[in-house]
Amino acid sequence: MTADPTTRPPLTVELAARAFATPSAYADEDYFHAATALLRREEPFPRVEVEGYPTFWAVTRHADVYEISTHHQAWRNQPRSVLLPLVLEAQQTKLVDVQSLVNIDDPKHRKIREVTADWFKPRTLARLEQRIASLATKAVDRMVELDGSCDFATDIAMPMPLEVILSLLGLPDSDYPRMLKLTQEVFGNADPELARDGGAADDAYAQALFEFAGYFSELVALRKATPTDDLASVIANALVDGRPMELLDQLSYYIIIATAGHDTTSATIAGGVRALVEHPDQLTRLQRHPELIPKAVEEIIRWVTPVKSFLRNAAAPYDVGGHHFEPGDAVLLSYWSANRDEAVFDDPMRFDVGREPNRHLAFGFGAHYCLGAVLARMEIRALLTELLPRLRSVSLAGTPQLSESVFVSGLKHLPLSYEVAPRS
Ligand code: HEM
Repeated sequence: MTADPTTRPPLTVELAARAFATPSAYADEDYFHAATALLRREEPFPRVEVEGYPTFWAVTRHADVYEISTHHQAWRNQPRSVLLPLVLEAQQTKLVDVQSLVNIDDPKHRKIREVTADWFKPRTLARLEQRIASLATKAVDRMVELDGSCDFATDIAMPMPLEVILSLLGLPDSDYPRMLKLTQEVFGNADPELARDGGAADDAYAQALFEFAGYFSELVALRKATPTDDLASVIANALVDGRPMELLDQLSYYIIIATAGHDTTSATIAGGVRALVEHPDQLTRLQRHPELIPKAVEEIIRWVTPVKSFLRNAAAPYDVGGHHFEPGDAVLLSYWSANRDEAVFDDPMRFDVGREPNRHLAFGFGAHYCLGAVLARMEIRALLTELLPRLRSVSLAGTPQLSESVFVSGLKHLPLSYEVAPRS
């Protein structure tokens, strides 16, 4: 995919549909949004056949993504819930067959989700409020230390959510670099800069998952022997149907919390700050009206939509949005497309920190609705609350770069120049 519009071939429905299984298309937002706008208008359920990927229909409109997400008996996560190149799928099942919450269906899904559901409720997470606020302060202090210029994506947006997740799980700060690297190797498997050893080894992706599993096996043993009050102990000692949880289910749980819990939020924080830099009127508005921060958080999440897609599989014949599906058909729920749907959002390509209503689907919907949504919102709110009053000026100091991924993607580099006031 090229960033220069003059050298692109004219957009057709066939070409636009390929974007969903083309990692580089997600790194070129203008192209992706032009492609999906065309599809929403002309072919809202395009069939996508791209070599090396499974075949599926993409779901581009908000109403259809919502309907499929909320009918989880008819639309199952098994056998395939994440779009991966077929070679990576084969690697994954060979070395370690991770079966996390997003890979399973009821009745098992409900039981496994219940193990930690209380931990992710606002009342329990309120315990973390102070810790998150102090991590936000630390992040903005770091901007001061960096003396007016930084790569906001790597220097600021990545560390903070990872530290939050480590605190939640009860892991030591010294494990931070390893967790960061492993997560990037898993989500960045299609991006040569992020994939393990540049993706050189055939099984680079599976190796990263395998190393995760090894790390977390030790954690299960430790927390079984000496339980503490952290989330890692809850998972290590959980009973499901009156029996200890299976080791593979435990490892899968840790892996999804560790991975889903920070790359998503980092990408949202970096993408949100970029949107504010590129829309200075909205930045000024938010600085003058900090009471808008909760609405701005929602608009940033809609704008960035770091989780680009999940898959669902039809369990029975199903009609949705004028399209008929047969059992076994796979669909890709395109959250990024749904969150730019003209039928739901007034002027969807406008970044508006006061947007109301804002019925975005960035956290999905229904039985698999993001477990960490409350936590993610707390983190983004904390960072904005700390940063905005201290930010005197800010501008881009280079070209922002998005990662190439069809699943979780966002800024990997955001060079900024700025003036940030020291803590008063
Ligand atoms: C802005 C940040 C985030 C976004 C946009 C996001 C988005 C999503 C989406 C789209 C899903 C699938 C929903 C569906 O299938 O209907 C999901 C599931 C999940 N998310 Fe998040 N997420 C974010 C942050 C987090 C955080 C901080 C955690 C913390 C641990 C987390 C943990 C999970 C888990 C465990 C699931 C699986 C839930 C299930 O299948 O039952 N996420 N997330």
